[in-house]
Amino acid sequence: MANEFPIEQVRERFPALKREDNGKQVVYFDGPGGTQMVDYALESMYRYIKNGMANLHGTFNTSADTDALLDQARETVADLLGCQANEVAFGANMTTHAFAIARSLAGFINEGDEIIVTELDHRANVDPWISMARDRGAVIKFIKLDCDNFSLRLEELEEIITQKTKLVAVGMSSNVTGTVTDLMRVINRAKEVGAWAVVDAVHGVPHLAIDFQELGCDILLCSAYKFFGPHVGIAVIRENLFEKLPVYKLNPAPGEIPYKLETGTQNHEGIAGVIGAIRFIEELGFGESRRERMLSGMHAIDEYELELAAEVEAFLRSIPEVTLYRNKSGRKTPTFAFTVDGHHSRDVTAWLAENYNMCVADGDFYASTMAEVLKVYPTGGWVRIGLAPYNTKEEIQQFKEGLTAYIAQHQENMV
Ligand SMILES: Cc1ncc(COP(=O)(O)O)c(C=O)c1O
Repeated sequence: MANEFPIEQVRERFPALKREDNGKQVVYFDGPGGTQMVDYALESMYRYIKNGMANLHGTFNTSADTDALLDQARETVADLLGCQANEVAFGANMTTHAFAIARSLAGFINEGDEIIVTELDHRANVDPWISMARDRGAVIKFIKLDCDNFSLRLEELEEIITQKTKLVAVGMSSNVTGTVTDLMRVINRAKEVGAWAVVDAVHGVPHLAIDFQELGCDILLCSAYKFFGPHVGIAVIRENLFEKLPVYKLNPAPGEIPYKLETGTQNHEGIAGVIGAIRFIEELGFGESRRERMLSGMHAIDEYELELAAEVEAFLRSIPEVTLYRNKSGRKTPTFAFTVDGHHSRDVTAWLAENYNMCVADGDFYASTMAEVLKVYPTGGWVRIGLAPYNTKEEIQQFKEGLTAYIAQHQENMV
């Protein structure tokens, strides 16, 4: 229950929440674009830098410490995502990882093979696979959007995923509508035909407990800046696929997993920060093992966010001028996309920023296929409000007041 969630202690952990502009405290509703950073992450980064940075595999202490830090970070991520530490590779961000993996997998793709992407996804889980397909003369197919409930038409899976399918790329949760996709259904169908399943978990990891092993996918991608950490991309690749993945790399650089995908020198201080970010999740949970604590920590976040989300949803559905792009049933993350009839989305977000110091984003959020299918470009895409565990009921009250005031004051200015 929300009243059991230690919201005051949680807020204390996020220094950026203290920011004020012109005497108004900032309200962060842009978690899906990137959450604020927890102090544990900042402290881990600072500690690493302050104690002496180094490159890997040296004889001296700072280098040994850096090797140990990267090992520790892999083990921490493995506990959070339910995979093995040697399946975790760090990188710049999810997009860069996806392009590198697509280039590596391309050698296994032949003319006439089929690559499946979706209309719901962020293009970071579409364009790398489309580029790979084009390079190899493969056929690209989309799992279509059900425009009535903003989810994928999974009833068409049998038809779309065939014996010719080599790779299926699907998102865990939409960074626009919050729709959580039934991943098991997609992955199971991919496995039936012997295809690889790639999961974009960028918008899933901040809100949902994840078990890579149980999901049975081959590749899972996420980004630490979406879950309270710094800008570091994370790829989890199933060991037996990772082993045989040819990568573009420097000749003298390690050829073993997981290092072979980590081209160049990594963002060691950022990777230190990932450990701190996950510690925040762990401390919200309980249990014997670290994995149990992380899972229950994620459940606590989920439960708290769902309670706040119910309030946002009821409010948005109650306003006649608002069109909400949200499935009425089914699992969702606390992320809301809407348009205000006759108004450009940027006008709404700019007004909320100016008058309420509120961070609310607008645009297509790179889910451009869905934006086209749903024809939201004439209003500049959607307005998006996304919740994080540091948001409060009071902030939601401010959002309600803000949007109500905007609509009342702008009745005349229709686009
Ligand atoms: C669902 C989803 N996938 C992929 C990405 C791309 O992540 P990155 O910025 O780490 O490349 C984002 C970023 O917003 C996202 O929301």
